[in-house]
Amino acid sequence: PSPLAGRDCLTLAEFSPQEVRLILDEAVKIKGLQKARIPYRPLRGRTLAMVFQKPSNRTRVSFEVGMYQLGGHALSLSPQEIQMGKRESPSDTGKVLTRYIDAIMVRTFDHAELEELAAAAEVPVINGLTDTHHPCQALADLLTVREQFGRVEGTKIAYVGDGNNVAHSLAIGCALTGARLSIAHPEGHGPDGKVVRLSAELGEPPKLTQDPEEAVAGAQVVYTDVWASMGQEAEAEERRKRFAPYQVDERLMSLAADDAIFLHCLPAHRGEEVAASVIDGPRSRVFDQAENRLHAQKALLYLLLG
Ligand code: CP
Ligand code: NVA
Repeated sequence: PSPLAGRDCLTLAEFSPQEVRLILDEAVKIKGLQKARIPYRPLRGRTLAMVFQKPSNRTRVSFEVGMYQLGGHALSLSPQEIQMGKRESPSDTGKVLTRYIDAIMVRTFDHAELEELAAAAEVPVINGLTDTHHPCQALADLLTVREQFGRVEGTKIAYVGDGNNVAHSLAIGCALTGARLSIAHPEGHGPDGKVVRLSAELGEPPKLTQDPEEAVAGAQVVYTDVWASMGQEAEAEERRKRFAPYQVDERLMSLAADDAIFLHCLPAHRGEEVAASVIDGPRSRVFDQAENRLHAQKALLYLLLG
């Protein structure tokens, strides 16, 4: 049986460094099988419910296709269907889905809603993004780094921009795998102190700075995300001004290591957080990274349902 069987994945911090390594090792294997077109269907007859309170491309498609490739089935529930928190509480949602379904993926706003659902559900619950965490993204990010450099441990990663859900999960993922993360952010937009402290308990916490050049100097990975996340649309104009000095452009990339790559969880805004010439340029690995959502999540599903 899998050592992860029956567990939840809400922040990644529930896993040990060895368990994160196991997920990444499994992802490499599962990716190899898929590339060789060798069928691998350990989840025949198993089902995943995907509860969406926010839009999605990558998360929706990669989970649905991933479950199918593993021999199972996934169904996607739009915000209009469950209306979690409005039509039905997160707790009742978790209890009811438990009676039909083998695992639940949730994308919502408030992380506390996910925790409430997970506490009530008797099946594995996976965070498909909340306002504060995006652990499946971090797994794909780490897999991409490992493929590029042959290892994660000791690699130097710079995240430039908003200290948001993606930055939080990257910080936890780096602490668990021994990557060295620096985060450059405008004043008042750093990662949550709770996440920084949690990272320090798990391993090395991120180094924080307001200077993008300092963070990027010598980095092997330069990472950014949108300046206004889902739910922050009203702040977008204000944020565009505040974050303007944090755009990842060719000048900033030139300060990174010679073999540096550029990552972005997508969707991206060219001309805002990243220059088109960077995200569409030779250092960009954003589509490999997006693909790796599929392989990393298949490994996670296999291990949690195993
Ligand atoms: N990166 C990511 O989670 O993309 P979606 O919002 O399209 O799922
Ligand atoms: N930080 C972004 C990530 C989208 C995948 C958001 O929460 O909207």
